[in-house]
Amino acid sequence: MTLKSMGPRLTAVGSGKGGTGKTFLALSLAQAFADVGERVLVCDADLGLSNTAVQLGLAHGGDLPALLSGTLGLLKDAVVRVETPPRRGFDLLAAPAGVGSLVDADTTIAENLAALLKRASGYDRVLIDLGAGVSGAVMTLAAHADDMLVLATPDPSSLTDAYVFLKLMLKRTGGRTPAIVVNMASGASDARRTADALLRSAQVFLNAAPAYLGFVPNDARVIEAIRRQTMLCALYPQSPAVAAIVALAGRLGAQLGRPQIAQSLR
Ligand SMILES: Nc1ncnc2c1ncn2[C@@H]1O[C@H](COP(=O)(O)OP(=O)(O)OP(=O)(O)O)[C@@H](O)[C@H]1O
Ligand SMILES: [Mg+2]
Repeated sequence: MTLKSMGPRLTAVGSGKGGTGKTFLALSLAQAFADVGERVLVCDADLGLSNTAVQLGLAHGGDLPALLSGTLGLLKDAVVRVETPPRRGFDLLAAPAGVGSLVDADTTIAENLAALLKRASGYDRVLIDLGAGVSGAVMTLAAHADDMLVLATPDPSSLTDAYVFLKLMLKRTGGRTPAIVVNMASGASDARRTADALLRSAQVFLNAAPAYLGFVPNDARVIEAIRRQTMLCALYPQSPAVAAIVALAGRLGAQLGRPQIAQSLR
């Protein structure tokens, strides 16, 4: 079967805790996958407080509510194109920033959105930027993803929330474990310590063994790029955080039996 006939691969980023870097990671991974020729859609599933368009400096992030309500019938009419020349672009499907119209989105809305994304034609991959928390809507979307990433930081409260996220995912999916990604680590050993703490709890209390996919370093250039509403890879293509994200994308691609992303694309 070809990738096209299977529909896009859904890759979701969640964490439980807010402010761990989910949106930054989802957008950066989207660019990394676009760079190697994948046709990518980012779905901003932070249904109440969408901020992908803000991070990208776009006036408009698409119209997800209109698609969900049926006001817009076609996905292509609800997305906007994100272009960072000379790189390949990707599409974004978000709720208009500051509208908050889906703030009370329930599991039925999340189920409808998941179904819609699974049959999104013309894409190889959909990156789902999940909102904070572990609401029914967030966990429903997470459970539908083919690859689920749980993002943790060395902050202890982020670890607790990531653990709860893992636990709820296991319960919902009957044993499928998300892969762990550590963000804002001071280095490889700090990230490994963070991942190990989570892995230990998962093993002891949940009898689960999630994979550790890798880490993104704490990097002041990330903060600067977000403040300047520009993709980090456009502003600082040589930064260690960009290299780390390219490596993560390569590992995710490799899990699918696809070629490793060329390091030269950094
Ligand atoms: N690798 C990093 N190094 C330094 N700062 C980072 C890094 N990743 C994220 N940040 C900081 O964390 C902030 C939050 O990032 P982001 O908005 O992507 O998180 P989020 O998990 O999507 O938040 P929310 O839960 O509100 O949706 C950024 O504005 C940035 O300042
Ligand atoms: Mg976010």
